[in-house]
Amino acid sequence: MTGEDAPAISRELAMIPWGLRRRLWNLIAISKYRANRPVAIPVPVGNDRPITDVSFVSQFPGIPIHNIRVADRVPADEASRLKYYFYEFQVAMYRLLPPMQPGLPDMAENPDQALFEAYTPAHRRCFPVPVLPPEYQGEVDLGFLAVAGPYAGYLERTPDGDYQWDLRQLARYEHHDGLRSLGLRVLFRSNEPTSKLEAVRIDCELGSCQPTDLTWGPAKQLALCAVTNHVSLVRHFNWVHLAVGGPFALATRNCLDARHPLRRLLWPHMFGTQYSNQIVTKGQMAKGGDFETVFSFTHTGMCELFEDSYQAYDITVLDPERDAERRGLGCAGFDTPSLSNQRAIFDVLHAHAARYLALYYSSDQDLRTDASVVNWLTLLDRLIPNGIRVFRGDEITIAGTARLIAALSYLATVQHDVLGTGLWNYQMWSRVQPVRVYKNGRRTPVDVYQRLVNANFNLNVKRAALMQDFGYLALDAQAAAEFRTFQQELANLQTRLSQEPFAHWKVYPTMLEANINA
Ligand SMILES: [Fe+2]
Repeated sequence: MTGEDAPAISRELAMIPWGLRRRLWNLIAISKYRANRPVAIPVPVGNDRPITDVSFVSQFPGIPIHNIRVADRVPADEASRLKYYFYEFQVAMYRLLPPMQPGLPDMAENPDQALFEAYTPAHRRCFPVPVLPPEYQGEVDLGFLAVAGPYAGYLERTPDGDYQWDLRQLARYEHHDGLRSLGLRVLFRSNEPTSKLEAVRIDCELGSCQPTDLTWGPAKQLALCAVTNHVSLVRHFNWVHLAVGGPFALATRNCLDARHPLRRLLWPHMFGTQYSNQIVTKGQMAKGGDFETVFSFTHTGMCELFEDSYQAYDITVLDPERDAERRGLGCAGFDTPSLSNQRAIFDVLHAHAARYLALYYSSDQDLRTDASVVNWLTLLDRLIPNGIRVFRGDEITIAGTARLIAALSYLATVQHDVLGTGLWNYQMWSRVQPVRVYKNGRRTPVDVYQRLVNANFNLNVKRAALMQDFGYLALDAQAAAEFRTFQQELANLQTRLSQEPFAHWKVYPTMLEANINA
């Protein structure tokens, strides 16, 4: 092919009709899902050369983000050439034959029909269709969504005793033409006789909207659009994968050698992270990637949002009890069901970490003399934005370290699940909760919706389950027994939760994955 031929071929490809384009990209998404196998977590061996942290933009030159630190390479035991080239092919196709096409009509008005068209029988043979949660039916219950499900982490007490979702900062970032700004604030009030929370005002581009106003329905839709953009871009990818997931894996590999007991404990929750982060970052954050073409922000706006929200990260979000205190929910006069559910799982992770540490360290002083652990904590403190002081405190202790280990396990299991695969039953329902709100009232274009469906479908690939015996990683019989005790405690919690009424927003131990890797 000569240089003169290339523009002609590009023009030809641009003419390919939407139906064909859609089939091709569905085929890519389905093939990716089918080819994926849960990673078998090997026993760590040997000592690889240390990984260096470098600037994000140095590893991903087309994505101008400077302050985020990422690994300079993928460790040899994680790399998979097949997956690597699959993602390279996918990113090349963004330019050659993009899944987006200007001028397409809106998705169908009937949500079931829209989903039927986007989520084909071939998709359904891989993974079940999403279910419309009760709180999305009829009058959308923002008060319930503020305490249960993927958006429950946003609620905070205001100085005057009310509660809020404060997403006003989203107004700063450039969004696509024709969209409403996502800078907004939802005010909630506790209804003490019913122990429920009610949304009472939404301050947004539509004005200061109250439940009796005609603008109330559209304002609620805009609020859910803002919060779902933030969950997918900031809480899931920026905070789970980049702010903590990457540093956690890097520091653990660099500071704890293959036979260190804490390396063995943490290994199932971090093996594969550098590799997965590398390929997924390209697929989602490159120009023309999922994030820019699906969500509300332009590529420039998205990059600035990532830089600012990375800088603002607070690791307290990995400890449900402390996070609830920080947000002023300690003794709220209303039910907080997601918080109770997530605390129950955190408690099991924490008890496991504490018992495991007790096998190897007899006192705080004993722990402080382990130079590997001191280096690990020091490196985590440097790499995670705003550090780990909330867990490390002034002095290293067994108690603080156990809580940190629980928090890192919680990140890779519970939090990644709630903010990623947990969106399946929420983010597909664009009439309730679109990823873009157009000023002229049009619905989501059909190509944007198709890509949203495929991106969420691919989040649901099968990963290594948390509920499996990791005793083969143990260094001795006592540690192996502790891994089994942990599994028994997860099974006990599963039994208890399964005796309660089922809910889609609940996290059950049987659905948890051991790590965040694609
Ligand atoms: Fe993820």
